[in-house]
Amino acid sequence: MALTMLPDGAWSVTAKQVVEYAVRPVPNVLNGTFEIPGPDSAECDLLGRTPAGSMRRLVVVDREVMRLYGRQVRGFLDRHGIEYRLLVLPGGEATKTMRTVLRVCRELDDFGIARRSEPVIVFGGGVLNDVVGMAASIYRRGIERIVYGTTLVALVDATVGAKTASDHNGFKNRLGTYRPARLVIADRSFLATQERRRLSDGLAEILKLGIVCDKSLFELLEDYGGLVLDERFQAATPTADAAATQIIEDGIKVMLTELHENLWEGELARATYFGHTWSPKVEMEALRRSRSPLAWRRRRWLLHGEAVALDMLLSVSIACSRGLISESELDRIVAVVRQLDLPTWDPLLDEPAILAAGLEDSVRHRDGEQLAPLPESIGSVTYANDITPAEVTAAVDWMRSLRKSDNRETRHG
Ligand SMILES: NC(=O)c1ccc[n+]([C@@H]2O[C@H](COP(=O)([O-])OP(=O)(O)OC[C@H]3O[C@@H](n4cnc5c(N)ncnc54)[C@H](O)[C@@H]3O)[C@@H](O)[C@H]2O)c1
Repeated sequence: MALTMLPDGAWSVTAKQVVEYAVRPVPNVLNGTFEIPGPDSAECDLLGRTPAGSMRRLVVVDREVMRLYGRQVRGFLDRHGIEYRLLVLPGGEATKTMRTVLRVCRELDDFGIARRSEPVIVFGGGVLNDVVGMAASIYRRGIERIVYGTTLVALVDATVGAKTASDHNGFKNRLGTYRPARLVIADRSFLATQERRRLSDGLAEILKLGIVCDKSLFELLEDYGGLVLDERFQAATPTADAAATQIIEDGIKVMLTELHENLWEGELARATYFGHTWSPKVEMEALRRSRSPLAWRRRRWLLHGEAVALDMLLSVSIACSRGLISESELDRIVAVVRQLDLPTWDPLLDEPAILAAGLEDSVRHRDGEQLAPLPESIGSVTYANDITPAEVTAAVDWMRSLRKSDNRETRHG
């Protein structure tokens, strides 16, 4: 930290903030019993307990998690002597609003949470992580949180970085802060109850990392992605068990490797933006139209990872046309997308204005440049700043041709 007077008489302040958090895989966490660390330890336990610390906690639980695991969650909190109040909120993108953020802030007031020693605890997916994370980051300018991720997206993506968010004004994640949870618990046993479509959705984010960051992760999905999806990441066979553990642990490792040096996104060329150049607009447009009482009312909304999968296909098609990846690599990527039951087409792709608006907003998000991540052979990345509308049209045409050859497409189209 430094305070300096500049030659023109202005004061210059330089300060650094150290951020320290842990992502801890814990199998079958709700059945476990954990000890409070000894008085000499600087650590807290999985519920934020310290030797002389407060046991009061506001615990925010996803409504579906409460329905499925409510008894176990209560037993877990009781067994550890926690004096808790539960706040049950629905998951789903429609919850990701400032209304929910402010609701959580009101509950924090109502509960009378102590500023440092009573971390808010979350059991939920990416949506609750993001909105409760945002509330916790602005409430009294920041209180701690501990997150138990209960969806695949939460386990490998949403909880492991620093970003919190609320959708706003028709845009995805328009408002948000950077504040990681103090502790993240990754327990894949929660995935046993996730809908298959939601697991595919989470696998899209892992595939993203495989395509642009880590070839061995891509190959792991190529070999076992379909199997772990079929077995819901549970231990039906030893092979699937080992594969499920490795896919999640490698996913977390690769994600953290990518994120930890750029937690505040100072650098806007980010591999993790792969699949996120056109998709935020497509996802929000699908959500908006799915709510419309008129022409699109029977339309199925797109999940986040599904929109990401479409964007990845658009990007890899452009990468292939530019000679960055080979035709056979392109075929391998399409095969994995299909194996993971992800869509290869959506009618919104037929609307060039939506894709143009998506790219335009990403350019604003990336401060004036496209910085569109494209694979440069599977497992590494390059950034394009000159993608033309004609290239996007050609990529959409290629995706339309995939649709014709994909007999499962009706599920998604
Ligand atoms: N902060 C980040 O860096 C980051 C990264 C990736 C994604 N995200 C965000 O994450 C969100 C998507 O996350 P998500 O897919 O977890 O959505 P979600 O939190 O809405 O959960 C999906 C659905 O699963 C239900 N659910 C949760 N746990 C369950 C369980 N164990 N069994 C059965 N059902 C369960 C929920 O009620 C919900 O209906 C998006 O808003 C996305 O923007 C954030």
